[in-house]
Amino acid sequence: MASMPGPTDAFARPLTDLRVSVTDRCNFRCRYCMPREIFGPDHAFLERDELLSFEEITRLVGLFTTLGVHKVRLTGGEPLLRSDLPTLIAGIAGLDRITDLALTTNGTLLPRHAADLAAAGLDRVTVSLDALDDEIHRAISDTRVPVTAVLAGIEAARAAGLPVKVNTVVKRGVNDDEITAMAAWGRREGITVRFIEYMDVGATNGWRLDDVVPAAEVVERLSTLGPLEPIGDGTPGGDVGDVQTGPGQVAERLRWSDGAGEVGVIASVTRPFCRTCSRARLSSVGELFTCLFATSGTDLRGPLRDGATDDEVVTIARDTWTHRTDRYSEERTAETARDDRVEMSYIGG
Ligand code: GTP
Ligand code: 5AD
Ligand code: SF4
Ligand code: SF4
Repeated sequence: MASMPGPTDAFARPLTDLRVSVTDRCNFRCRYCMPREIFGPDHAFLERDELLSFEEITRLVGLFTTLGVHKVRLTGGEPLLRSDLPTLIAGIAGLDRITDLALTTNGTLLPRHAADLAAAGLDRVTVSLDALDDEIHRAISDTRVPVTAVLAGIEAARAAGLPVKVNTVVKRGVNDDEITAMAAWGRREGITVRFIEYMDVGATNGWRLDDVVPAAEVVERLSTLGPLEPIGDGTPGGDVGDVQTGPGQVAERLRWSDGAGEVGVIASVTRPFCRTCSRARLSSVGELFTCLFATSGTDLRGPLRDGATDDEVVTIARDTWTHRTDRYSEERTAETARDDRVEMSYIGG
């Protein structure tokens, strides 16, 4: 593949991260993501042959690396529901130019799969966990799966040598009382916990601004556990130069002054980071989305299955990125929060 410089979009943002959804299914029904009233027995999930095959995904990721992508995250839905995921991981890990290959998961299937994922070349996992208290966890995830099952997944990943981060979506009145307990647990375990502001993603979660606990308030609550200092320059990603930092990242990182590791906040609502957003998303059916809040994507599966050449596919992706003007989180209002949008379980977290 000829290597032209990677494209920048209408606001001079490069394309460096690709998040790939491998399934729209999940074994949880988190209220803020897949409310059971909508994602119930009658919901039409995607059919198997609509999904990109592993060969198709690997080919596309390879083409995206020629446009500047070096960081890849597999998501869903719950990606571990897709059978034989290590095969896909091996394919992507084997591509030139990939510096970071991560997986977002709810953790429940990690005891079964962690060793194979690590052996296939996965670099790390991010586990979603919103509470340590079983009752709160059950209310949020709308499953009977106990917290210990998620913790067992985290342990399995670590035992397989995979670094683990935890993502905690905070919703006021639901799990905000868990913030300090989660952070204290992370400190003890040496696991970075990142608290995410609840977002108006999708169109089914009934989001209201009052539900958001601002990151500033989260940090205030965390400070009751001990003094904290920013890592890097305090902006999302800081300016410290490893693959999980630098421009284009989402988390503001903080470290405990006593050396007990780090925590983070992801302030997508109160301190949006669109200005440096270099993330593209590939849905499980092969649409390219240039914003988490997009209403539609660019079809790549059609051309792929119609026999397009590598150059033809790259041209479509490049043009899509070049024309990109997305900055939804900077433009959010109570009005826009009601717009019709694709769901996070479909587009990939
Ligand atoms: P690391 O490389 O481990 O820092 O991961 P990441 O920065 O890619 O973050 P991760 O996938 O763990 O994302 C954490 C959360 O941040 C997601 O679940 C979303 O809630 C939010 N998030 C991630 N990307 C975006 C984005 O592009 N826009 C917005 N608004 N939120 C995002
Ligand atoms: N707001 C913020 N984060 C969300 N996630 C899912 N829905 C939302 C939302 N409405 C997060 C999950 C998980 C990742 C896949 O996306 O907690 O960490
Ligand atoms: Fe599943 Fe994650 Fe969505 Fe919860 S947030 S329903 S675990 S995809
Ligand atoms: Fe990027 Fe869209 Fe998120 Fe802004 S709202 S950071 S443009 S994905």
